[in-house]
Amino acid sequence: MKDKLIIFDTTLRDGEQSPGASMTREEKVRIAKQLERMRVDVIEAGFPAASNGDFESVKAVADMVKDSTVCGLARALERDIDRAGEALKGANSGRIHTFIATSPIHMEKKLRMSPDQVIEQAVNAVKWARKYTDNVEFSPEDAGRSELDFLCRVLEAVIAAGATTLNIPDTVGYNMPEQFGTLIRNLRERIPNSDKVIFSVHCHNDLGLAVANSLSAVINGARQVECTINGLGERAGNASLEEIVMAVRTRQDIFMCETGIDATQILPASRLVSSVTGFAVQPNKAIVGANAFAHESGIHQDGVLKNRETYEIMRAEDVGWSANKMVLGKHSGRNAFRSRLVELGIQLESEDALNAAFARFKELADKKHEIFDEDLHALVSDETANEDEHFKLVSLKVCSETGETPHANIVLAENGKEKQANADGGGPVDATFKSIEQIINSGAELQLYSVNNITSGTDAQGEVTVRLSKGGRIVNGQGADTDIVVASAKAYIHALNKLHSKLERAHPQV
Ligand code: KIV
Ligand code: ZN
Repeated sequence: MKDKLIIFDTTLRDGEQSPGASMTREEKVRIAKQLERMRVDVIEAGFPAASNGDFESVKAVADMVKDSTVCGLARALERDIDRAGEALKGANSGRIHTFIATSPIHMEKKLRMSPDQVIEQAVNAVKWARKYTDNVEFSPEDAGRSELDFLCRVLEAVIAAGATTLNIPDTVGYNMPEQFGTLIRNLRERIPNSDKVIFSVHCHNDLGLAVANSLSAVINGARQVECTINGLGERAGNASLEEIVMAVRTRQDIFMCETGIDATQILPASRLVSSVTGFAVQPNKAIVGANAFAHESGIHQDGVLKNRETYEIMRAEDVGWSANKMVLGKHSGRNAFRSRLVELGIQLESEDALNAAFARFKELADKKHEIFDEDLHALVSDETANEDEHFKLVSLKVCSETGETPHANIVLAENGKEKQANADGGGPVDATFKSIEQIINSGAELQLYSVNNITSGTDAQGEVTVRLSKGGRIVNGQGADTDIVVASAKAYIHALNKLHSKLERAHPQV
């Protein structure tokens, strides 16, 4: 029997700390559902004390998730821990994760505390968290640059205080794989009662080593890895979940442990996170990039045709790439549509939501003959993206002609009341955004505009992401359509709807 490697996903917490990746409560709940479907063991849903928005998100995820443990982050402060405890009240299984920095530079320059004060605060925090749950994780922040003797003292003290998981973060991505693995082995060997707790690691990717460092730690006895979908996270990101899971699974000859992840849900999770955050996945990204299983050279193609294993160490289907991509067309009925959604692991909340999605599917099938799995994912996220529609696109007419100034004429409904505007622009998208602004006058600044084709071909749907910022808040909007100007209008309006919803969002570590 191999040990279990606990997969702790922090896409909704550390991932959300990527500038521009902040998510609404509904988006977090959608991603949490997918993480649960993928059988992630622990979902870190946010930092409840950071803002009311984050508190509400963690609470919503805790109330909804049944099978995974839901975790809330808290500084080693009673008021933070109280907020986390409160947000996690409804969880089937909840965990409080509390942290304080232990490196000389963080203690001296950031905390302005002595090492003894840090130990005292860490111990008090763990004891305080135990009032809410017996599942308490402690992290010595910047452990990768902390002194070994001091780390041992802190960790011994928090085990005695009741911590059940010790998470060792390489907060600034400074460590090398061998060094980090040795650190984990030393901690396990030197700390009394280390066998009573789970050792976890949390590696950042500043030198591109987050996955390598995490795996080295696993070889040296870590039994929980903190990671994110697509490697999202603060600065250069965290260790990517898909790479950790597939490395451990593919090299069972090396690892003495295995995960409980349903790997076929990896690709849908990657797509969902990319579409919610607007962070595109690079084509050559391992496991989930568009080229991850594509063979270009003739020699490779020939080898794969003769025997797949000549050039493939994993099967694309095992991580969710479907072998038969063409799924539905204009003559497909409601039942075929429903069963394909079920096969893709997409659950719609109600019969009404299914009917609305089916109507949109029929509209799309009129414009595009072959509907692929990717189209269905986009269609359903478009459906759920539009839940809170204060502003709604009614119609759009755009004229774009060589030698003429592009012009847009738009009709929007604001709270059900229709308003119309016209504007010129540098191009059709610019004219469209200006016409929307004539009605809404949001004062928001456009930070990012990007278009991706969902499948190939000129009749493919374009998926547009728009990032807007206003008064310190940054939101992403998405829209998909076979007409990219319409997709752009939908994305812009989606972002404006998010800005309009008053849920407070703040950077989690402010
Ligand atoms: O990178 C880090 O140190 C963290 C901690 C809060 C675990 O994110
Ligand atoms: Zn981190």
